[in-house]
Amino acid sequence: RDSKVIAPDLLAWYDRHARSLPWRVPPGGPPADPYRVWLSEVMLQQTTVAAVKAYFLRFTSLWPKVQDLAAAEDAQVMAEWAGLGYYARARNLLACARAVTALGGFPDTRQGLAALPGIGPYTSAAIAAIAFNRAETVVDGNVERVVSRLFAVETPLPHSKPELVALADGLTPTARPGDFAQAMMDLGATICTPRKPACGICPLMAVCDARAQGIAADLPRKAPK
Ligand code: ADE
Repeated sequence: RDSKVIAPDLLAWYDRHARSLPWRVPPGGPPADPYRVWLSEVMLQQTTVAAVKAYFLRFTSLWPKVQDLAAAEDAQVMAEWAGLGYYARARNLLACARAVTALGGFPDTRQGLAALPGIGPYTSAAIAAIAFNRAETVVDGNVERVVSRLFAVETPLPHSKPELVALADGLTPTARPGDFAQAMMDLGATICTPRKPACGICPLMAVCDARAQGIAADLPRKAPK
């Protein structure tokens, strides 16, 4: 069960069912603008997709390019960020916009991106895959759940995290890695949901070990806190 089996089915599903979101380009299209990918991913780290939409549209209308955000007054950015929470994130956002502007644009590799202020392993992988078509694996909570079910991983989180990352890595295709990453997120958000997953309409039902064993809703297991 490798990317040869999973990626084509998942991408075909994404072509038909991708959520239309303000920071996305249509499936199969040219890569998205790294500024818009970065801004959306930073906002999405702490807030739901539904809540982020309005903030994203407001920020990109006030500051259409990273250079515009870099030149903004700190106080105005903080005021616009109000409601998203975690002001440290807004400060990092400005520091990152200014660093990118000083560099003349976003670095186009995961490693280069990870050296920027406020960009961790998740965000660097997401920008590299979605904006630069790099075959990087993006693992968020949705992807952990999807992968733990596909392979019926019974080890509880967080112990299973390295195994889940390795398994997700093995699924990531070299073609369309950004669409693949977003397809995994959409599958986790709309079908492979935490409770009552809709296995009957899942594009991956034929290859899902947890579904075959009847334990999809029980995974991922979590170690007691
Ligand atoms: N959550 C985090 N990043 C996302 C994205 N690019 N699309 C949908 N949900 C997300």
